Amino acid sequence: MAIDLLLGLQWGDEGKGKIVDVLTKKYDIIARFQGGPNAGHTLEFEGIKHVLHTIPSGIFHPKAMNIVGNGVVIDPVIFREELENLSPFDINVRDSLLVSRKAHLILPTHRLLDAASEKAKGSAKIGSTLKGIGPTYMDKTGRNGIRVGDIELPQWKEIYSALRDKHLTMIKNMNVVLDFNITDLDNAFYDAINYMKSSVTFIDSEAYLSTAQKNNQRILAEGAQGSLLDIDFGTYPFVTSSNTTAAGACTGLGVAPNKIGEVYGIFKAYTTRVGSGPFPTELFDETGETMGRVGHEFGATTGRARRCGWLDLVALKYAVEINGVTQLMMMKGDVLSGFEELKVCTAYEYRGKTIHHLPYSLNEKELTPQYTSLSGWEEDLTKMRDESELPATFNDYVAFIEDYVQTPISIVSVGPDRSQTIFRDLT
Ligand code: IMP
Repeated sequence: MAIDLLLGLQWGDEGKGKIVDVLTKKYDIIARFQGGPNAGHTLEFEGIKHVLHTIPSGIFHPKAMNIVGNGVVIDPVIFREELENLSPFDINVRDSLLVSRKAHLILPTHRLLDAASEKAKGSAKIGSTLKGIGPTYMDKTGRNGIRVGDIELPQWKEIYSALRDKHLTMIKNMNVVLDFNITDLDNAFYDAINYMKSSVTFIDSEAYLSTAQKNNQRILAEGAQGSLLDIDFGTYPFVTSSNTTAAGACTGLGVAPNKIGEVYGIFKAYTTRVGSGPFPTELFDETGETMGRVGHEFGATTGRARRCGWLDLVALKYAVEINGVTQLMMMKGDVLSGFEELKVCTAYEYRGKTIHHLPYSLNEKELTPQYTSLSGWEEDLTKMRDESELPATFNDYVAFIEDYVQTPISIVSVGPDRSQTIFRDLT
């Protein structure tokens, strides 16, 4: 049976966690394929908000198996905290969470290298979450990394110490001041590794998934971050260090391209971005402030305020095409209630020409967004549960997007809770 993918189409924070949680009842297995604790997937139900960083968003469903794939990078210290946060709930982690032996580990010194690199960049910094993501993927591609399977070896502490010492030398040579105590960091890491070994099962996840597919198990691959943060196709260098797009699911889980089924693309009814980098439709006025306030636009991982702006359909279409999205899901339509006029970017003025594709540079000096205006809606959408209740101008907004990107919108979300999800009839 084919594997379905769920991906963010903007700069992350689209609401992937909520949709995975809503869709999980249709699936036997939920698998994360890239990223790490830079992600913050928020799930809300029965009045409780849960934020997951590394653990797949199917963990609260008793029947789902959750897999952390080889493409993910794991910080054992954060992973342990996440596991401990699950303890008040009746979840048998040992039987419902499996971790790939080929996933790479984030060392405490990877986090220090991230901080040192950002400090050294000064005002040109990426705005990283400082979770050590970039340095860990650098060690992976540089063939120096430590993988989960290594901690099953008797000499794992020596392997760890060798890489840690190399990192400490690198940090010293970077000439930046960082405040840390390496013995404390080592001890926290050792404790977390022991905790991880005693509480979760390590597997060869590509073999597990291949067998699951042959046995017709239904699998959903859960992406992290968003397409515009992809290392190849995002707004480089202001991106994360993994492939957040559909191809990342193939390499991050060991799934062949011809085994991919539906590709669900998640986007917000407007746009947000956290961290540095170009954002053509960003708003610096009251409208942007209102979006941020009403939408509670603060990072789930870092608490940083997110930058807000109008929906960029040129960028959305790009993401739909790169990922082969088959169905769209629009989040946070409720946040736009009350605006008389809504703007959507439908073209760019780029180096003196009107274009309809994402160019090499989104630098604001070279590119100006061109907008189409649409009518807004007054109604509060948060209590609506059925498509028939949605206002006509909201439906027009949805239809305009579908027409521009030539892809149907199957779900509109009108609030953070599981129940605030409207399935649209696409027949
Ligand atoms: P890093 O992946 O932590 O190095 O961060 C690189 C860039 O990606 C920064 O601009 C971060 O703010 C952004 N980023 C990383 N993870 C997420 C996420 O899960 N949501 C939104 N932005 C993210």
